Amino acid sequence: MRIAVLNGPNLNLLGEREPEIYGKTTLGELEQIVRAEASRLGVALEWMQTNHEGTLVEAVQGLRGRADGALINAAALSHSSLALRDALLAVRVPFVEVHLSNIFAREPERRQSRIADLSMGVVAGFGPQSYLLGLGAIVSRLRAA
Ligand code: DQA
Repeated sequence: MRIAVLNGPNLNLLGEREPEIYGKTTLGELEQIVRAEASRLGVALEWMQTNHEGTLVEAVQGLRGRADGALINAAALSHSSLALRDALLAVRVPFVEVHLSNIFAREPERRQSRIADLSMGVVAGFGPQSYLLGLGAIVSRLRAA
């Protein structure tokens, strides 16, 4: 099984960016944590981060035939991007939406997601563990299918 992890804008600054909200774990450390869990679960993992909406759209388009499922933290684009939503509608790869922070407890504009209704489910608010919970959930769901 192959799972892709797509990370959106500003997540490259994890560790130094608003640590009181996003914690002190860097993106590289987060990748190592998620890779360790993926190998424990016996799944292959692809990992990417981009600050560009078009690159994220292309990454979603590229999932077709390449990944069985995805974890997506589209960061601010989760709240705004119709293009990302359209790409997910076009590709129809099963995915879990993940967020480090609890977006539902933050500013009103962060409380809605343009992609949540297309997802298998949303994990938000657990820091790096959101990714691990999301990975465990999608792998067991796909294995049960
Ligand atoms: C985020 C939440 C978003 O609202 C924000 O724009 C991010 C990170 C999170 O992981 O908590 O960049 O997706």
